[in-house]
Amino acid sequence: MIFLCRTEELQDPGTANVVLGKGEDELDIVIVKTGGKPHAYINCCPHQFIPLETFPNHFLTEDRRHLVCSGHGALFELATGICSQGPCAGCALDRLSITERDGMIYLDEALLPDEIARRKRESRRW
Ligand code: FES
Repeated sequence: MIFLCRTEELQDPGTANVVLGKGEDELDIVIVKTGGKPHAYINCCPHQFIPLETFPNHFLTEDRRHLVCSGHGALFELATGICSQGPCAGCALDRLSITERDGMIYLDEALLPDEIARRKRESRRW
């Protein structure tokens, strides 16, 4: 397991952004807490495969009920990552498996972050 952030860093609802690795192996992760539970997604909009945010850790709509892509305004459900409105409606952010233990949140994936990043990159179709 790989440490991502401390639970106390997250408001509810609230987000944290963690980037593991560098360059082509970079895995950009958005962690969102809602209803007392954290969720993690690859920070990559299914519309044009860009990170959701323009400004650091600005992922939420003003009412804090959705993640929003600053590219073209797609809205994503906090607890599922499903796009409910926007150009990629019906698509979803890629969920990452995490574990919360002793006030810490860890990435809990079978694959290493660089392998996850590589697979994500290869899955893009233009
Ligand atoms: S790139 Fe995210 S909505 Fe277009």
